[in-house]
Amino acid sequence: MAQEKTTEEKIDSLLEQMTLEEKVGQMNQYNGFWDATGPVPEGGNAAMKYDHLKKGWVGSMLNVVGTEEIRKLQQIVVEESRLGIPLIFGYDVIHGYKTLAPIPLAEAASWDMEAIEKSARIAADEASAVGLNWTFAPMIDISREPRWGRVMEGGGEDTYLGSKIAKARIKGFQGDDLSKPNTIAACAKHFAGYGFAEAGRDYNTADIGTSTLFNSVLPPFKAAIDADVKTVMNGFNLLNGIPVTGNSFLQRDILKGKWGFNGFVISDWASIAEMVPHGFAENLSHAAELGTKAGSDMDMESSAYVRHLAQNVKNGKVDEKLVDDAVRRILRVKFELGLFDDPYRYCNPEREQERLYHDDHHAGVLDMAMKSIVLLKNEGNLLPLAKDQKKIAVIGELANDKNSPLGSWRLASDNNSGVSFLEGLKSYTDEVSYARGPKIFNDDASFLHEVQVNSTDTSGMDEAVALAKDSDVVLMVLGEHGFQSGEARSRTHLDLPGLQLDLLKAVYEVNQNVVLILMNGRPMTITWETENIPTILETWQLGTQAGNAIAKVVFGDYNPSGKLPMTFPRSIGQIPIYYNRFSTGRPDPEPNVFWSHYVDEVNDPLFPFGHGLSYTQFEYSDLEIDSSDSKNVKVSANVKNSGGVSGEEVVQLYIRDKVASVVRPIKELKGFEKISLAAGESKKVEFVLTDAELGFYDHNYDFVVEPGSFEVMIGTSSQEGLTGHFKID
Ligand code: BGC
Repeated sequence: MAQEKTTEEKIDSLLEQMTLEEKVGQMNQYNGFWDATGPVPEGGNAAMKYDHLKKGWVGSMLNVVGTEEIRKLQQIVVEESRLGIPLIFGYDVIHGYKTLAPIPLAEAASWDMEAIEKSARIAADEASAVGLNWTFAPMIDISREPRWGRVMEGGGEDTYLGSKIAKARIKGFQGDDLSKPNTIAACAKHFAGYGFAEAGRDYNTADIGTSTLFNSVLPPFKAAIDADVKTVMNGFNLLNGIPVTGNSFLQRDILKGKWGFNGFVISDWASIAEMVPHGFAENLSHAAELGTKAGSDMDMESSAYVRHLAQNVKNGKVDEKLVDDAVRRILRVKFELGLFDDPYRYCNPEREQERLYHDDHHAGVLDMAMKSIVLLKNEGNLLPLAKDQKKIAVIGELANDKNSPLGSWRLASDNNSGVSFLEGLKSYTDEVSYARGPKIFNDDASFLHEVQVNSTDTSGMDEAVALAKDSDVVLMVLGEHGFQSGEARSRTHLDLPGLQLDLLKAVYEVNQNVVLILMNGRPMTITWETENIPTILETWQLGTQAGNAIAKVVFGDYNPSGKLPMTFPRSIGQIPIYYNRFSTGRPDPEPNVFWSHYVDEVNDPLFPFGHGLSYTQFEYSDLEIDSSDSKNVKVSANVKNSGGVSGEEVVQLYIRDKVASVVRPIKELKGFEKISLAAGESKKVEFVLTDAELGFYDHNYDFVVEPGSFEVMIGTSSQEGLTGHFKID
């Protein structure tokens, strides 16, 4: 009996049948172009794309959604092209499709990998229901740059936490069987260094030394490969003078060589063509040559491959073997998705109807949203409010906004589909009066255009102040608009935009019982606010269930447990500021000026990485270290809930390798555990440090573990905990 062919054999036989142009076609991805269910296009760009689909010169489409549209395009390729190789349909499902979870930076604040995986599962369930089979997520760029708007899309500044999140999100998207109709291929992006865009200006150059590249930037990508991510996206930036899209060191030597990645690499949007203005490629044809040689397997929307690659092969500039390798990788993922078995596997209109905005999804994103909230400050325990609290004033335009809390990168979601804070609050009590204060943001703010900010028209101010004066407690909802962070949203000021700080100050003057509820997509320089306002709740942009999640925290039905995944600076001048920095040779204050400091600012951040309070208190004691086995160093501490209500705490472990051949940071997160404790309850939390935690990459990209002394800290943030020492030999 003939044996069933393996996937690799099936790919071999397909490759044998394919013309060079058809192979190059697999490497070509087009953006959506016309209403596929309408009349066939007769001219222009859409007609050309339509023609290419029929010829089998397109391997993938992005930004086409809906089972009907996707089925129609798939049908063209499957039925009309010579070999009928199905398309793979990609889309930016960054934090949900219709039902939105919190922005990824907010999710990172939960430090809850189970919840994060579940959230990605929900996103995959909805996205796959509309016919999609591939998301351009997770973004796992480590970044220390709050000026860079895309920090909202990632897991923050830390490599250890970021690697865990990468794994959880990939697992959530891809599930345990990629061929199931409710799982989608994930894409680890942007490989690599995009989070280090100089001065935080998007698309800018990144210059990263080997120690930071190997130890901070690359590990989340390695974790993604280990988690079996199917695709990787490169990026727009230069890395040390070479566009990452044309970078064979990254893509061939490391990704496909050292790490053995066998999925495919997609370029970023037109990043192959952008190698021309970068000054790396002479023209589009040269860019196609360089991209292919460097291992960029699929060209997103720059048409460089479809126009020039076959010619490059014919005239001997590009070895056809490289094309074969790229096509093999792309076909492999299509086989794994089950598209060859049934190209319409994801196109079930009943499922589409049933899954979008499913009740279970609402429950899931509400849970994720509550877990993402960080209590930054709670002097005098203004929060939680009593359920029978009287005379609550709610002030600020964002409090009454059903759109902005959805955050950026929410391409498919419906406008105003979020629960506003005011709505959430009103489901608890009627004791609420609202004043908007000055209007700050334009109502038609969108993903495509810059948000307009009002810094002059104060109308609405007096009314808000009068309301505050006449209230027992004031909930001020202030921050950034949901479209003020995200791609191409770099800022040079990180304070509250427009007249919001003026409003806060005016309110505070008449009523000091102010709770500041922040909505924002990145760390902000809220220094005056922190020095003056007694209670501050960081709620980021929490997605569809934002208002309900915040209301539950405000009234104590959920005890906040989030911890900052990124440092909050005091001022822009401190940036980049991050917890795992290196020591200078002059770290300590001197009576004279000659030590490492600013003359006009302290060195410490406003809020450190890992910071976050609870309505209860946690006491740490009994640090124990057992280093008798250098390969399994055990470090434990006792954590007690010494307050009056139950709560969750993220217990964090940091180490410092005291002396090393390549200097190690003053602190590095190497373990964490989120525990739940009833009032009065204690728990011993133990971490085991192995080579993986104790070693590092040297300048040759070799992983080394060096004997010597380590400092260790177990605590509640990167700045506070029990400290001890151990040695390994
Ligand atoms: C972004 C990518 C995104 C792509 C497709 C680009 O501008 O950098 O992250 O996946 O567009 O929308």
